[in-house]
Formats: sequence, structure tokens, C-alpha cells
Amino acid sequence: MITVNNVGLRYGSRKLFEDITLKFTPGNCYGLIGANGAGKSTFLKILSGAIEPQSGTVTLTPGERLAVLKQDHFQYDEDIVKSVVMMGHTRLYEVMQEKDALYAKPDFSDEDGIKAAELESEFAEMNGWEAESEAAVLLKGLGIPESLHNRKMNELNGSEKVKVLLAQALFGKPDILLLDEPTNHLDNLAIRWLEDFLINFENTIIVVSHDRHFLNKVCTHIADLDFGKIERTLCRKL
Ligand SMILES: Nc1ncnc2c1ncn2[C@@H]1O[C@H](COP(=O)(O)OP(=O)(O)OP(=O)(O)O)[C@@H](O)[C@H]1O
Ligand SMILES: [Mg+2]
Repeated sequence: MITVNNVGLRYGSRKLFEDITLKFTPGNCYGLIGANGAGKSTFLKILSGAIEPQSGTVTLTPGERLAVLKQDHFQYDEDIVKSVVMMGHTRLYEVMQEKDALYAKPDFSDEDGIKAAELESEFAEMNGWEAESEAAVLLKGLGIPESLHNRKMNELNGSEKVKVLLAQALFGKPDILLLDEPTNHLDNLAIRWLEDFLINFENTIIVVSHDRHFLNKVCTHIADLDFGKIERTLCRKL
């Protein structure tokens, strides 16, 4: 769960938010809507902690993992597609890297053996053995063929990169998923696949989109950002 308490933010004389108090709870998908420039992207950045609000607080249930659809299409240019997806789960990816580094050591000591055992158990707890196949399933679902999974990001076109970044956000079943305009640059097939994925997702989703049809399909609630306030309404279930 993510709790927003009295959050306020202004840029210069422009008041973006004032006293916003809301809770986003598991099992729900919240569609955040509002006019261009209303502050939807900024609000998601406040939720993810990328921007500090000037007043109020945002708190996550302790131990919960939050994932964000990254907006920088060039951030991972030198990385391998499948790895970029797995980087979505920061700790899992770190453990994979540490393990690989340990096993590659020519002088593997008893101490390294103990460390490796610890890492292996943490890895198993995070479902690490499924990570590669999960990444492949997400990529294929979004329409990235297997022949691209081991390529570098900079070999992909813009639309393919967006799909990889989306797969990264969805990877490893985050507790809270923040998506800013996820359907931009997606073809219809990928949009349909994403709709199904989000409808079946059990945790908390907050999504910004201008695509009303998409929002109608996936959202349980609509949060309308207008004049610095957020009005939340329950969607009629289809
Ligand atoms: N770092 C910043 N400094 C000053 N003003 C900013 C900054 N970031 C955003 N703004 C302004 O805050 C307002 C809200 O921007 P934001 O990108 O959050 O809107 P949005 O609702 O996501 O818009 P869109 O629908 O176009 O994506 C805009 O007027 C924008 O120009
Ligand atoms: Mg925006």
C-alpha cells in the first residue's frame, strides 16, 4: 500500500498540488487523469521518491517493492535486453551479479563459499531460478522475438526499447507499479497483451494514460487531477 499525506508542491508561483491525501491499496488499478501539464507525471515522481514534495509525506508499507516505467530510452544502451528486464528487480539483479563474480574468482576461498551459500538462499527466496524465463515471457508477450533477447539495447528501434522498459517495470511482480503513458509507441497487439497482464495483476497499479479505452479496461478507480486536487472515483466494473 502507498499512503499520501497532505502532499503539496509548487513550481515558482504555480501550485501543482495542495494537501493531497490518498491511499492506494492492493488489488486496485488507479488511472490518473488530468489535463496536459496538470502534474500527472510529477505526481508519479513524488510517489516513486524521485521528487520530494514541499509538504507532506509519501509512505510505502515497509518491505514493499516499487517499480517504475523508465522514461529514458537511452539509459541502457550498452546493456543486454534480457538483463535490462531483470534489472527491474534491483536486489535480485545485484545478487545475480555478486554470485557470478564470486564463482568467477580463481582463488575461491572458504569464506567465498559461505558468502555464495548466503547469496544462493536469498536468490532462491526471490524466485531467482525463474527470472530468465519470466523475462523471456514478458518480452515475447510484448512482441520482442527471442532473437533480440541477447542483443544490446542500442541495436533495438525506439518502439522495441519501450517494450523492453515496460517488461522491466512488470518484471518480478512488484508490490506497486507506476506506469506513465505505457501505451505510447505500442502496437495494438502489445496493448492488448498489456491490458490482460494488468487486469490479472494482483498488487497496486497507478497508471497515467490519455487512452480512455485502455483505462476503462484495466482500471478499478480513476483519480482525476484538477486544480491541485485529486478526486478519486470507483470505476464501474465491466
Ligand atoms: N522541474 C520543473 N521545474 C519547473 N516546472 C516544472 C518542472 N517539471 C514540470 N514542471 C511543470 O509542471 C507542470 C506539470 O508537469 P507534468 O509533466 O507533471 O504534467 P503532466 O500532467 O504529466 O502533463 P502531460 O499530460 O503533458 O504529460 C507543467 O506545467 C510543467 O511545465
Ligand atoms: Mg506527463
